[in-house]
Amino acid sequence: MRKTIVAGNWKMNASKESVDSLIKDILSGMHEVSSDVIVCAPFPYLSQVEALISNSNLMLGAQNLNVNSKGAFTGEVSANMIKDFGAQHVIVGHSERRSLYGESSAIVAEKTKASIDAGLTPILCVGESLEDRESGDTEIVVAEQLNAVISLLGIEAFNGIIVAYEPVWAIGTGLTATPEQAQSVHLFIRNLLAASDESIAKNTSILYGGSMNASNAADLISCPDIDGGLIGGAALKAADFLQICKAG
Ligand code: PGA
Repeated sequence: MRKTIVAGNWKMNASKESVDSLIKDILSGMHEVSSDVIVCAPFPYLSQVEALISNSNLMLGAQNLNVNSKGAFTGEVSANMIKDFGAQHVIVGHSERRSLYGESSAIVAEKTKASIDAGLTPILCVGESLEDRESGDTEIVVAEQLNAVISLLGIEAFNGIIVAYEPVWAIGTGLTATPEQAQSVHLFIRNLLAASDESIAKNTSILYGGSMNASNAADLISCPDIDGGLIGGAALKAADFLQICKAG
């Protein structure tokens, strides 16, 4: 049985004060939550979140990493540094990284490898643009993004990867994929993994992301191949985030 996972992606939204109250408010509702819950904080706040969530079942993640383990890479952060602050997860290949920072599927595969090598669980994001969807290329795009990881790391790597399907046109737009649209791509992803290894495919958690909120989360998460959510905007409000966590 795959456990429901809800991950909050705060993106570049935080201050010491907001992190303090957001985490405290989330923690106060966690006793009603049975899903696994992860908060992915910007790098400067990892330490603060680490301290706030100690002795709780809330888990910590980062939002990006450099593929190198150390060295002359000014401004960059390695997987080991992220681990050093008690994080277990890292988002890899978010569409904002792919589109704004030129991360190709090959780079995303390298980042996936760097996270796994350091003992982090990557949350590997895949998803099509509006143009891809309108030209009927959703499956081609998602397959290319996944195959880049499979060809570098082998299917076995998916034993330690969480996949997040995030249609780019749904991210931050309020345009959520319908449960049918999302389920169809989730099933496509699971079948693609199953073509290499059925049991790995069955055990891989595939989260949906893209304007998931307190009102639509339950319908999405109840789809057979949707195992939780990667939440942007709604993860910044404790009440909404907790509502989503409870939907699992
Ligand atoms: P959103 O973002 O929930 O604000 O659409 C999701 C994401 O980018 O991970």
